[in-house]
Amino acid sequence: MDVAGLLARRRMVRSFDGTPVDPSWLDATCATALWAPTAGNCAGVRMHTLYASAIDPFFACTTDATWRERSTRYPGLARAGAVVVVTSRPSDYAARYGEPDKRASGLAALDAWPVPYWHGDAAMATMALLLLLEEAGWSAALWGDFGRAEALLAWLGTPDETLFASVLVGRADGRDRRSASLERATPPRHARVTRVASPPPARPAR
Ligand SMILES: Cc1cc2nc3c(=O)[nH]c(=O)nc-3n(C[C@H](O)[C@H](O)[C@H](O)COP(=O)(O)O)c2cc1C
Repeated sequence: MDVAGLLARRRMVRSFDGTPVDPSWLDATCATALWAPTAGNCAGVRMHTLYASAIDPFFACTTDATWRERSTRYPGLARAGAVVVVTSRPSDYAARYGEPDKRASGLAALDAWPVPYWHGDAAMATMALLLLLEEAGWSAALWGDFGRAEALLAWLGTPDETLFASVLVGRADGRDRRSASLERATPPRHARVTRVASPPPARPAR
């Protein structure tokens, strides 16, 4: 299937059947995903892969017991065959943009960045991973576990990194509950593309 087909077919899946994921294959697939673009060739994104016995401790670290007891989603999520925690190293970006060929950017200090490119790089690598998983017939959910970021990074032994998100990987079991997010009315994709006239029309002064 071509890339457009993979993009159209991919959907977040939040209920898995417990099929394990081959660690060698997923580690290699993560490395492939890291072909994604990276600002200034910083290569500041990291992917931490968790399998089998590491998955319950991952949820213990990123969620609380009450949620695990009450969430109707938790059992399906907990049957993921693997988790990929995507992180980045912001200090790599500040260091790179302080090098002679980038110094004029003024981005040698982290608080000078109007757009944190480490998150952009992490998002691009994550999207590449989602497409590679889709191509290989796996399902995935992006899990925004930043509420417990500090604990998760400490548990991973990488407290200096910044969490982007985790990708739960598995085989869909067909018991997914449709996300409430999908009930939102959103503008059609083509309406979010604007062709700008050349030169752009003058905007009224404010
Ligand atoms: C940055 C980001 C964070 C997300 N965090 C979560 C999350 O924490 N939990 C969840 O169930 N889905 C999460 N999602 C998935 C979105 O809800 C989902 O992509 C959206 O509803 C569109 O559905 P689709 O991806 O199946 O097309 C996240 C997606 C993105 C891009």
